[in-house]
This record gives sequence, structure tokens and C-alpha cells, in this order.
Amino acid sequence: IEAALGTGPLKGRHVVVTSGPTHEPIDPVRYIANRSSGAQGAAIAAALAALGADVTFVSGPATVPPPEGVRVVQVETAREMLAAVEAALPADAAVFAAAVADWRVANAAERKMKKDGSGKAPALDFAENPDILATVSKMETGRPELVIGFAAETDDVVANATAKRARKGCDWIVANDVSAGTGIMGGAENAVTVITAEGSESWPRMGKDEVARWLAARIAKALVE
Ligand code: CTP
Ligand code: CA
Repeated sequence: IEAALGTGPLKGRHVVVTSGPTHEPIDPVRYIANRSSGAQGAAIAAALAALGADVTFVSGPATVPPPEGVRVVQVETAREMLAAVEAALPADAAVFAAAVADWRVANAAERKMKKDGSGKAPALDFAENPDILATVSKMETGRPELVIGFAAETDDVVANATAKRARKGCDWIVANDVSAGTGIMGGAENAVTVITAEGSESWPRMGKDEVARWLAARIAKALVE
């Protein structure tokens, strides 16, 4: 409602949000990907827009549709995602909710790979993808005031996420435990711990929409104060 009225605490602020998986081609008909529905990223973009932000939503091929009221940039690969984020800057804040494939296939084929009848499987060579969050966090000029990353972990969640925050150079890390059995991956709920320079804070388990609203409110407070 506030966005429709052109009001809200984030009016006039530009926020870039990445979301969804990336797909890295093997050949024209095959790819490798990360598991991600894009639900949490879409909810965050919607919550930011509801607070009046001008949102650029850079999304890989997600299952959940992009929200209304945001500028959508559809991408496929990690390298396309980085280029789209760079093209979208400057921004006041950037939220990196995408599940980016860490590696792409270095020897991707231009034509469909065919079985040759020998029974032997082809070998794939991998190359590391650019780290979008780290690239933006370490920008010397034009870095957004607030850069937020996510960390999906299965072990030592807070320790791993705290180390990740330092390594990436971002301001906040939103960490969650995606171990099998938590039901978070692909589910409607999330249980996150937010790590900032001041320390870590665990939020109650709640719907992904509600996590998004808490985060958007937190971002508004940080940018406006
Ligand atoms: N990220 C990114 N670009 C990449 C990889 C990750 O922007 N190539 C971002 C994600 O969107 C997320 C954060 O970095 O906000 C952490 O992603 P994660 O996969 O947990 O971190 P990695 O550094 O890839 O470490 P890991 O080996 O644990 O996967
Ligand atoms: Ca990764």
C-alpha cells in the first residue's frame, strides 16, 4: 500500500536483490544448478517494495514468480547475474539472496553431447564462478551503503557464517541451517541468525514472508538512521 502511495521509509532508495538459482550450461540442453525456489528472495524484494523502495530484482530461473512492483532482470548464469548487478548499480543497499552455482562447466559444448556407443561417460571440467557478493562488498567506489549476504549452512552455522561475513567483506550475513530435516530448503518457513559487526541475533522460526518483512524493516532502520 505504501509503495502504491509512493510513500514508506524506503521511498527514493534503490535496493538490488539477487534471487533464485543460477543454471550453468553443460551443452544446449543440459545444465547444473543449485537448489533454490527463489521464495525467500522474492519475499524480500516484495517487502522492500512495500516499504517504498525502488527494487531491482535480479533473478535466476526460480520456481516462484517475481513479485509485483519491482524491476525484474532475468538471468541464467552466475556471470550474467554479476553483469546484471553491476549494470543495476548504484544502489543504497544490496541483498544477495541468490543460490549462485559456485562452479560453471569450463568445457561446455556448443552442440548437444551425444552418446558415442562406447558406454563411457564424458568428463566435465569446472571453473570457479565470480563471487558476486564479494565483488560488490569490496568495490572501492560506488559500493552500496549496506551489503547483505546469505549463508545456507548445514554445520556450525554461526561460526561458518561469521567467518563468511569477514571473508566476503559484507555488512550483514543472514544465516540459516538448511540441514535435511529442518524443512527449510523448499519449505515455507525459515529460521535465521543475522550476523552484523555487533554480533549475532537469532530470529524465531517464521514464514519466509515474515522473515522478509523483518529484514526489510531492519534495512529501512539502518538506511534511514
Ligand atoms: N554468492 C555470490 N556469488 C557466488 C557465490 C555466493 O554472490 N558466486 C553469495 C550468495 O548469494 C550468498 C553468499 O554469497 O549471499 C554466500 O553464499 P555461499 O554459497 O554460502 O558462500 P560461498 O562463499 O560460495 O561458500 P560455500 O563454499 O560455503 O558455498
Ligand atoms: Ca556457494
